[in-house]
Amino acid sequence: MNEQRIAWAITGAGHFLADCAARVLRYGAVDVYLSRAANEVIRMYRLESCLEGEHLRVRRETLASSPAVAGFARGLYRVLVVAPATSNSVAKFTCGISDSLVSNLFAQAGKSRVPIIVLPTDLAPEMTSTGPHGDLIQVYPRPIDLENTARLRGFPGVTVVDSVEEMADCLAGYLA
Ligand SMILES: Cc1cc2nc3c(=O)[nH]c(=O)nc-3n(C[C@H](O)[C@H](O)[C@H](O)COP(=O)(O)O)c2cc1C
Repeated sequence: MNEQRIAWAITGAGHFLADCAARVLRYGAVDVYLSRAANEVIRMYRLESCLEGEHLRVRRETLASSPAVAGFARGLYRVLVVAPATSNSVAKFTCGISDSLVSNLFAQAGKSRVPIIVLPTDLAPEMTSTGPHGDLIQVYPRPIDLENTARLRGFPGVTVVDSVEEMADCLAGYLA
């Protein structure tokens, strides 16, 4: 089998986005999957150039059936990273919904027993985030958002991380 790649899903979250986009470039063989919202939010934050690297293959959400996820069953991927993960996508993960590109990646990675690392945006009842224009914003995740993050921590094969640094450490463990 050829070298296994990293599948890295980016959802439409501003929180952690700049750090995640910068991190993605550090890895050797990555397929980046953008949700429709991610495609928009990345443009709002003017981060498109962060996703231009020879070793990156960027795929956008266009088709409803997400045929790209077949790579998990074929053994193409060593690990799935979802970072950052919106409250919307985390809610879908915990409910077993797979009706979008990223929720399909999550489901198919699970069904293929490929390990998954998730960095949710909703980690605490209050957080300071940075808006598209560099402005600081106070965000108060709802109990349902925090409950979903907590539920995800109990999923087999899924590691929920609390920071970009923890995500990088966890990923290094899978790539060693
Ligand atoms: C500028 C901007 C920043 C956003 N940041 C966040 C965020 O940090 N966390 C979050 O849960 N949703 C955030 N959203 C909302 C999501 O983009 C929205 O819920 C979207 O439907 C998520 O779709 P996805 O999970 O398929 O990417 C943001 C939206 C905009 C326009």
